[in-house]
Amino acid sequence: MSHTLFEANAQRVQRCELAVPGSSPGMFEKALNSGADFVFLDLEDAVAPDDKLQARKNVIEAINDLDWEGHGITISVRINGLDTQYMVRDVVDLLEQCGEKLRTILIPKVGVYGDVYMVEAMVNQLEMQEGLKNRVGIECLIETALGMANVEDIAKEGALGGRLEALHFGVADFAASVRARTVNIGGLNPDYPGDQWHAAIARMTTACRAFGLRAVDGPFGDIKDPDGFKLAAKRAAALGCEGKWAIHPSQIELANEVFTPPEEEVNKARRILEALKEAAAQGKGAAALDGRLIDAASERMANNIVRMAEAIATKQ
Ligand code: GLV
Ligand code: MG
Repeated sequence: MSHTLFEANAQRVQRCELAVPGSSPGMFEKALNSGADFVFLDLEDAVAPDDKLQARKNVIEAINDLDWEGHGITISVRINGLDTQYMVRDVVDLLEQCGEKLRTILIPKVGVYGDVYMVEAMVNQLEMQEGLKNRVGIECLIETALGMANVEDIAKEGALGGRLEALHFGVADFAASVRARTVNIGGLNPDYPGDQWHAAIARMTTACRAFGLRAVDGPFGDIKDPDGFKLAAKRAAALGCEGKWAIHPSQIELANEVFTPPEEEVNKARRILEALKEAAAQGKGAAALDGRLIDAASERMANNIVRMAEAIATKQ
């Protein structure tokens, strides 16, 4: 192992993140009782320009008035992008008016670390000004060619900044940015012999894990295709993502199912740890379990599964 180690800036369970437009306050109460680990109230792409200011007010009111924490939800807000006239006031109003209850800010379309730096600097100042006791985390959407080209730098510098917790793969904007031949959000392209998102998700996930961040997969647009959703979620999980967005309440249970390690997987992981403990007592570094070799790397893989299962159990 390298002598360099990036510890996580924050530990949170994030199997499913429900997206809720800030301009639809009628959906807030449902989101509160949805069973998602995270909810992000959106000020960005799901909100029409004419509704931006009202959406900001709705979101601040919902964060202050509804007991998200008490419902097991980490509450987040997707602010507008740095290229808009809304972003500065989004951050200022959120921190000044509901900073105590807000848990994370999700920055869309991050292209370079400087985008994160600006939000970090603003949050640092506002936190001091307001005397906030909680530390508002930052998450970034990697959804442009520029963001993906700089993803390692964004992850590393953001992790060092102390607030960055997670990167999300925004498949829709990413497809637009690289001009992929599709108009679907997140589905597989039958013309492509494989998963056309594999390289992007693998790159982002590796950058996350190198620097102690969570990796989260973004939206799947076809809400009438639960099998397609689960397939996309399983592919992301296989690459190291620990959660996925839901753009409709029906997708929450599917994401929770995929990103909760099944009991037999947890049992197997515990048996691996037990077998290696016994082997260590006999002065051995490796052992055989069910006819397969297991060693210290197996222990690290098994520990990931057991720790995630424990974090989920603690949350519930
Ligand atoms: C999410 O914002 C996406 O573009 O997929
Ligand atoms: Mg997007």
